[in-house]
Amino acid sequence: MSTAMLLAAAAVRQAHTDRTPEAQRNAAIARACLQRAGESAERLLRAVDGRLGRGLLGLLEAACVPGIGAHYAWRKRRIRQWARQACADGVRQVLILGAGFDGLAQTLLDAAPAARVFEVDRPATLAVKRAALAALGLDDARLQLCPGELGALPLARWLRGLPGFAPELPTLVIAEGVFMYLPLDTVQTLLRQLARALPDADLIATAMDLRRDGTPGFARQRPWVRRWLQWRGEPFRWGASRQALPLLLGQGGVRLGDVAAPDDGEDPDPAPGEWLFHGCLSHPDHPVPAGRTHAPLMAAALP
Ligand SMILES: C[S@@+](CC[C@H](N)C(=O)[O-])C[C@H]1O[C@@H](n2cnc3c(N)ncnc32)[C@H](O)[C@@H]1O
Repeated sequence: MSTAMLLAAAAVRQAHTDRTPEAQRNAAIARACLQRAGESAERLLRAVDGRLGRGLLGLLEAACVPGIGAHYAWRKRRIRQWARQACADGVRQVLILGAGFDGLAQTLLDAAPAARVFEVDRPATLAVKRAALAALGLDDARLQLCPGELGALPLARWLRGLPGFAPELPTLVIAEGVFMYLPLDTVQTLLRQLARALPDADLIATAMDLRRDGTPGFARQRPWVRRWLQWRGEPFRWGASRQALPLLLGQGGVRLGDVAAPDDGEDPDPAPGEWLFHGCLSHPDHPVPAGRTHAPLMAAALP
């Protein structure tokens, strides 16, 4: 069971109560992916589809990270708003890192029909998604699925070789729920490569907060979640306090803009512990003034 499958299951579950066309299409894509992602994904889908299964998954959620399903919905709602606004402001190209089984690309292509979207994820994940989109008739020449291992790709060169990718176009980079799985220095290198290749591109991304014990994670996350993620090979590798976030991102050439307030009175984060932010990639020749090294501010990397 991978985290991409869990997110997909959450999308299917959410669509049982959220009847908006967006939630329904997101769930259709998630469902088609889960049907093609192996036996455990199919079992998960069967659970989500049954009333009893949904009840049990609700109990499981409470036993792992209470409110995490609603947090994902909160995060996706905000990302859609920001990304749509960026498209309205002139973005012509969107690069989604660690896209998983999510349907954000389709939403953005609806909002900006002239735009192009490039999704990067591991080959196995994108093979499933490609088959799922084809089965749904959602394969679209404006969307390219680009298999690759983040952290191993020389990103700037790789982007230049990507058919249809035009570094000079106004670009939005989205990294939702993925940076925390890569070591911090890998994320910073990757961001610097992007900043060099796509100066002034917009960035919408997430990063983990630190818990009271100093480990990266959700505030209400139970202790076994960390062990499970570690056993799955997808541990949260780093996190940052709100205070440290601008400096850590600045080391990657990111000028931090808005950070979604988890305690927003009108729309609070149902499971705080993951920063959602909007920023801009600045070329290394115009570095973000950091003033201090990040070492004392970063979380201890997990072993
Ligand atoms: C938690 S899922 C998030 C999926 C999607 N962004 C969302 O929020 O619904 C993390 C995704 O990042 C991908 N991922 C993690 N590490 C990666 C790496 N090194 N290279 C490429 N993709 C990676 C996983 O395959 C997975 O699809």
